[in-house]
Amino acid sequence: MEIEISDAEFNLFQRLIYDASGIFLTPVKKELLKSRLIKRVREHSLHSFKEYYHYVTERDPSGEELISVLDCISTNLTEFFREIAHFEFLSDHLIPSLIESKKKKHDKKIRVWSAGCSTGEEPFTLAMVLSESIPSLFDWDVKILATDISTRVLRKSMLGIYPKERLKGIPPHLLNTYFERENSSSKENYQVKQILRNMISFRRLNLMDDIFPFKGKFDFVFCRNVMIYFDKKTQGELVSKYYNHLAPQGYLFIGHSESLAGTDNKFKYVQPTIYQK
Ligand SMILES: C[S@@+](CC[C@H](N)C(=O)[O-])C[C@H]1O[C@@H](n2cnc3c(N)ncnc32)[C@H](O)[C@@H]1O
Repeated sequence: MEIEISDAEFNLFQRLIYDASGIFLTPVKKELLKSRLIKRVREHSLHSFKEYYHYVTERDPSGEELISVLDCISTNLTEFFREIAHFEFLSDHLIPSLIESKKKKHDKKIRVWSAGCSTGEEPFTLAMVLSESIPSLFDWDVKILATDISTRVLRKSMLGIYPKERLKGIPPHLLNTYFERENSSSKENYQVKQILRNMISFRRLNLMDDIFPFKGKFDFVFCRNVMIYFDKKTQGELVSKYYNHLAPQGYLFIGHSESLAGTDNKFKYVQPTIYQK
């Protein structure tokens, strides 16, 4: 029997998802929500979305099922070298000036955060750009933290295996240097080499958490195409948390269809989608 979702059931999930992730699903997303969650309803042999809602909120104290809900509804679209201007800004301006100022302070640490990293294309692009732009890379202690709310995308990121057609944006010389053919499947897949994977720690982190568990500060944060799913209030709160977790003069990069306009923030505007503490 076909299971439908009523407006009241949609409202329950809309609230649950908003409270848990900051993602606000407008009513036009009702059918999308239904198509994404119906598998979970059936998997638990339930008969309605209302029963599934009670299962998630009352019968699963581990919170695992809520993570599955968020996995199903999050949009994970991404690609290597997405919004190339950001990576040009890094290699032409940010990294050279960061290296100069760190050298003066005898500080060898470079810390970067890819917040909402999806399947890993963004942090791996950052790792390639940092590796190519930092002279004497091995003299430096470079670490990229890559976080996402979805355990499904994090599992993919950690493997770092991509079909050939996903690698289109990568310049050929970087593809040769940092990827190798992966032979465990008949498909033409490539895996990111260990040297790049070693630079990145993948972790599950919900950007809605009140406190982020970081001791040190980041030199720059990429949070691109994530805040677009949040309302202005949530965006403003998140942007001030980024401000607090950045080193002085640290940078925040956001997606090209996003803006900090309308949020109460202390960042200095550098150029569209790039802000500095
Ligand atoms: C469209 S992808 C963006 C990927 C990459 N930053 C880029 O620009 O290509 C958005 C990602 O944000 C994640 N996300 C959404 N809400 C989140 C939250 N509350 N905490 C952490 N990650 C979240 C999603 O799971 C998804 O992987």
